[in-house]
Amino acid sequence: MSDAPLPSLWLETTPETAFPPLEAPLDVDVAVVGAGITGITTGVLLKRAGLSVAVLDSKRILRGATGYTTAKVTSGHGLVYAHLEKHFGAEGARTYAEANQSAIARIARFVEEDQIECELEWKANYVYGDSEQDRQSVEDEVAAAQRAGLPASFVEDVPLPYPTGGAFRLDGQAQFHPRKYLLPLAQSIAGDGSHVLELTRVVHVERGEPTRVRTDRGDVTARHVVLASHLPILDRGFFFAKAHPHRSYAVAARIGDGAAPDGMFINTGQPSRSVRTSRDERGPLLLLGGEGHKPGEERNTEQRYRALEAFGSRHFGTTEFPYRWSTQDYIPVDQVPYIGRLTRASKNLWVATGFKKWGMTTGTVAAMIISDAILGRPNAWADLFDAKRIKPRPSAARFVKENASAAKHWIGDRIGKTEGDVLADVARGEGRILKVDGKRTAVYRDDAGALHGLSPVCTHMGCLVAWNSAERSWDCPCHGSRFAPGGRVIQGPATKDLQRRELGRANGSTPAA
Ligand SMILES: Cc1cc2nc3c(=O)[nH]c(=O)nc-3n(C[C@H](O)[C@H](O)[C@H](O)COP(=O)(O)OP(=O)(O)OC[C@H]3O[C@@H](n4cnc5c(N)ncnc54)[C@H](O)[C@@H]3O)c2cc1C
Ligand code: FES
Repeated sequence: MSDAPLPSLWLETTPETAFPPLEAPLDVDVAVVGAGITGITTGVLLKRAGLSVAVLDSKRILRGATGYTTAKVTSGHGLVYAHLEKHFGAEGARTYAEANQSAIARIARFVEEDQIECELEWKANYVYGDSEQDRQSVEDEVAAAQRAGLPASFVEDVPLPYPTGGAFRLDGQAQFHPRKYLLPLAQSIAGDGSHVLELTRVVHVERGEPTRVRTDRGDVTARHVVLASHLPILDRGFFFAKAHPHRSYAVAARIGDGAAPDGMFINTGQPSRSVRTSRDERGPLLLLGGEGHKPGEERNTEQRYRALEAFGSRHFGTTEFPYRWSTQDYIPVDQVPYIGRLTRASKNLWVATGFKKWGMTTGTVAAMIISDAILGRPNAWADLFDAKRIKPRPSAARFVKENASAAKHWIGDRIGKTEGDVLADVARGEGRILKVDGKRTAVYRDDAGALHGLSPVCTHMGCLVAWNSAERSWDCPCHGSRFAPGGRVIQGPATKDLQRRELGRANGSTPAA
């Protein structure tokens, strides 16, 4: 049974990797859990500073959010600088801007020094209002971004084929192909006592000196451990309650040469719309992203792709959409990523999460902060992003709302209705929560007609999973864990698969052949 999500443009246009799994116990200076942009950049920086590193991934590398992103490399993160100024002060906004601009420069330096061919292109970034009503908030954002030291300007004329309420334009930003950028960097980690290990799932990290990283293939001991697994797999630090999953979608459309807009674009309103260009071997592509929602709360996710395609056809006249993909990221309750020590007590355990869909730069910022900390170097940005911070004012309302929503799912989904009890009603390629022998059961029928039964109880903290039709996965609405149709974890924080359940001739119905 295939349990791979739909491949993205980035995955379709690069070769599959073949790094080995962990085969024998290892001892290194630093173990990095997760090989996305955060883990690989951290590994590269530490290896080049002379440390031995092991970067471990449960899948093949760069198949998490980094393999499914839209890969704009910008400090223009929607409307953020006015918020930062209000809640973190002028200094906080300045630090955020400086860190992200430095991340762009760091990426460009890797590209230049390592001569990486990754389609890096310099572009202006536009954050545009959907209508005149948004003008004030966009103007406020421009003023705050300028005070934060960014070369921001307000522009009336936005190079898009539909009206806007003006935009926050930021020059000197970039876009690239994330796998073409990161695959050579990953390759440069392996060797001379350092390792990239694929298909090696970390199941636990035991405190101590050295720290012991337990995997499904044996142990790695390390002086430092960096959790770069997106949402951390450890519940210490309560990041599952401080950052909340949000899923969005992307499609790539064929577009004529010269017909695509020059720049990178994102709107300020809803539904969200993100626009950039790219290309494949057949020619130019227009990438359209958006349609965000909480995972596990929507059954017909297919309609999200259709909405993006309709948007492309309406405004850009595109009719051919050869690529579509989706992924999720974690939104921190106070809008600033969590980067640094996992808890106050952890001396050698580091975490980076909550990139709120801007991890190309903020994941790079995380790698720079954490590698500096491990190497004993000062870092002027570390306090702003401190993962242990408590910021009650900007966080409280969102913290309460998001955790109430998780609690509602934990309780409400248990007393909610199932979708029937007749196995024969489950179509090929479909999943449903059914009552089977009196037990709530996640039932999936594969393309060959065979039925598969699973416990619907998420192995992270016990919420009930829901079927995602477009991605063919079981998604948990509480903290975003995702499971393949057959129950295998495809996205944490869960580290254990869903339990299998025998279906047999349950409820008197015979599974259809
Ligand atoms: C639709 C969408 C569009 C986006 N567009 C942009 C954009 O234009 N610009 C931008 O800056 N950001 C964007 N982002 C955000 C960005 O893609 C992410 O913030 C970033 O990729 C996160 O990188 P990461 O390395 O932290 O996580 P990931 O890339 O998810 O890497 C984490 C890795 O950890 C591994 N892992 C997990 N659990 C375990 C375990 N138990 N053991 C071993 N390995 C494990 C996973 O397999 C994965 O490979 C977007 C996000 C979304 C959702
Ligand atoms: S992801 Fe936390 S309960 Fe499922």
